[in-house]
Amino acid sequence: MSCIYNNLNLIDLNDYPVAWWEKLLELGHKISLDPSAYSESCKGKIMGTLFYEPSTRTQMSFQTAMLRLGGTIIGFDNPATSSVAKGENIKDTTKIVSGYADIMVMRHPTAGSVKAAALTADCPVINAGDGGHLHPTQTLTDLLTLREEKGRLDGLTIGCCGDLKNGRTVHSLIKAMSCFKNNKFVLISTKELALPAYIKDVLSAGGHSYTEVSSLDEAVGTLDVLYMTRIQQERFSSKEEYERQKGCYILDNKKMAMAKKDMIVMHPLPRVDEIAVEVDSDDRAAYFKQAKYGMYIRMALILTMLDKDQKPLPVITGREHKHLICSNPGCITHKETYLPHYFRGEGTLLECEYCDERTLVE
Ligand code: NCD
Repeated sequence: MSCIYNNLNLIDLNDYPVAWWEKLLELGHKISLDPSAYSESCKGKIMGTLFYEPSTRTQMSFQTAMLRLGGTIIGFDNPATSSVAKGENIKDTTKIVSGYADIMVMRHPTAGSVKAAALTADCPVINAGDGGHLHPTQTLTDLLTLREEKGRLDGLTIGCCGDLKNGRTVHSLIKAMSCFKNNKFVLISTKELALPAYIKDVLSAGGHSYTEVSSLDEAVGTLDVLYMTRIQQERFSSKEEYERQKGCYILDNKKMAMAKKDMIVMHPLPRVDEIAVEVDSDDRAAYFKQAKYGMYIRMALILTMLDKDQKPLPVITGREHKHLICSNPGCITHKETYLPHYFRGEGTLLECEYCDERTLVE
């Protein structure tokens, strides 16, 4: 078994034990009470933000977090203005930036791309969203929101509604919440936008109860938390396919009237039309507060990732299978063909180290 170690990275929250998340949440909470007490904590440190995909909250909250910690930032938010436009691969771009910066935050449209960068980077790498795969720092934001607004991370009935197939925030959130006791999941989507099998397997393996329904009206009254998501237009293979799904769920005051008095509504944002603006003035709408918690938890994360006492984790725990091709055509290994083909597990069904999809060994 190979073990590639380099820096402390955050690619998938579930690479770390729950105790590590809890420490981060505690620090995020402390920072939220008095952010100015940390204004010199990262003096002299530089954060590189490489955003190959559009972003408002994730990018700006990371940048604000570093500035509030006394550090500075470099990076791009449009790869067209960097050498990526000249055809530079991920490995070269991230290798260079990781030599300039002390910590790097990266968002990319392809699953597994941030792990690919972490293989060769010279500084800690944080996954700010890799295609439709994972979004661990949104999950940290969501966990801090639940802790502050619901007072607990267990014993909750959580409804996830919308594009559960392509919504990376839901994938990361379900993986994380399944580590706490007695959480129940209600998966509200059309058949076409159902949760991928590898995330359902996480639920089944942990013995968690989940139901799949297509009607938000039927489910809303049973929930402690409603996590709404946008239909991810950019991840559809055709415009017609998106048009068929668009507008399938809309939360409005009529539906809110059927919900529990203490249910909270979360959304990673941006919203398109899935939450009517009239819901914003309902006390149970938590999504704007949620975005602010994102800044505090990212301050806590930057501090933790730059802490020299933290122990790096292995980036790769499986091994190379030179001739095995990942079954997921959307995996980074299909685009950046120099990448070694790393898989986890033994036997005939192996898990891709980059995108987590399973591939059958012939
Ligand atoms: C989400 C994302 O980028 O995955 N946004 C965010 O980071 N707050 C959700 C989305 O784009 O729908």
